[in-house]
Amino acid sequence: MHRTPVAQTLPDFPWDSLADAKSLAQSHPDGIVDLSVGTPVDPVAPVIQSALSSVASVPGYPTTHGTIEFREAAAKSMERRYGIAGIDPAAVLPAIGTKEMIAWLPRLLAVQAGDTVVIPELAYPTYEVGALLAGASVLRADSTVAIGPQRVSMIFLNSPSNPTGRVLGVDHLRKVVDWARERGIIVVSDECYLGLGWDTQPVSVLDPAVCGGNLDGLLAVHSLSKTSNLASYRAGFVVGDPELVGDLLAVRKHAGMMVPLPIQAAATAAMANDEHEAEQKERYRRRRTILLEAVRSAGFTVDYSEAGLYLWATRDEPCRDTVQWLAERGILAAPGEFYGPTGNKHVRIALTASDERINTAAHRISA
Ligand SMILES: Cc1ncc(COP(=O)(O)O)c(C=O)c1O
Repeated sequence: MHRTPVAQTLPDFPWDSLADAKSLAQSHPDGIVDLSVGTPVDPVAPVIQSALSSVASVPGYPTTHGTIEFREAAAKSMERRYGIAGIDPAAVLPAIGTKEMIAWLPRLLAVQAGDTVVIPELAYPTYEVGALLAGASVLRADSTVAIGPQRVSMIFLNSPSNPTGRVLGVDHLRKVVDWARERGIIVVSDECYLGLGWDTQPVSVLDPAVCGGNLDGLLAVHSLSKTSNLASYRAGFVVGDPELVGDLLAVRKHAGMMVPLPIQAAATAAMANDEHEAEQKERYRRRRTILLEAVRSAGFTVDYSEAGLYLWATRDEPCRDTVQWLAERGILAAPGEFYGPTGNKHVRIALTASDERINTAAHRISA
């Protein structure tokens, strides 16, 4: 039987190409500072841990739609944190991590071969993976003007952006939403860094100023990995157009991917508690200030980076040279080309390391 492994239809997993830079950085006498991935390092808040263990003895299957407590906490957190009132908890669907959700969303929403999925010019790699798993083509474009005659069925937005930290303003978001609606195109807005605005206040695609209070064709994807340090738990949700959420729910009732009950309980506690989230944000703010000053003092230019967990920095040279320069100082960063061809002169430097490691990196960079 001839079989083409699915992985062969996907791009190379880019992180494998960082092995040499990583071993060089690891050889630093005072150890590596790994700023190449956005993985949280600060502990999970006690209030979340105890919610997790509070249901550790429950044996039954969780429902696909999740507990009402989870969905209500999600809807209320959207109102408290981002000013989006009136979300119906029925239009919230829990997800085992948003990477998983994004990778399967095009397939679950019937995107198919012959369709085009539009993703940002510089993008988190899983949007492309999701489109390819559905058999669709990918077009990188940051404005609707750059989109040609293709049959577009879905468009991914990501503000604040990974990797650039760029924030799309209300006008930009509204234009995309209007354009997509006129054509019946689904807009998926990945908002996992929405709570991490530094120089500007990011806005959700569900904000009335963007969508006029009409959620038709819109989905917002929210992760608890970054703002609540829950990457290891795998927790997030999708919210928006009740019909699209209903479609996702109907498929997942068959296909599974239910969120484990203890994780739902933990996520519910996380969404109900703004204190730990604000504390975590302040940690990142401090780390960002230190790193930003260091890279600027070493002659880097930092573009965008007004929100989110990364500095998008350049020395106006090929990104692999900058990765090497940093690795020689025991620091690992991600080359911008991982995120799209136009990133080939930038590196992405994550703010997700302990205070001690961030201080160490800053010293090494400015020395
Ligand atoms: C833009 C973006 N979306 C989604 C994710 C996935 O987050 P998770 O799967 O942990 O919810 C990440 C993680 O780095 C990300 O940067």
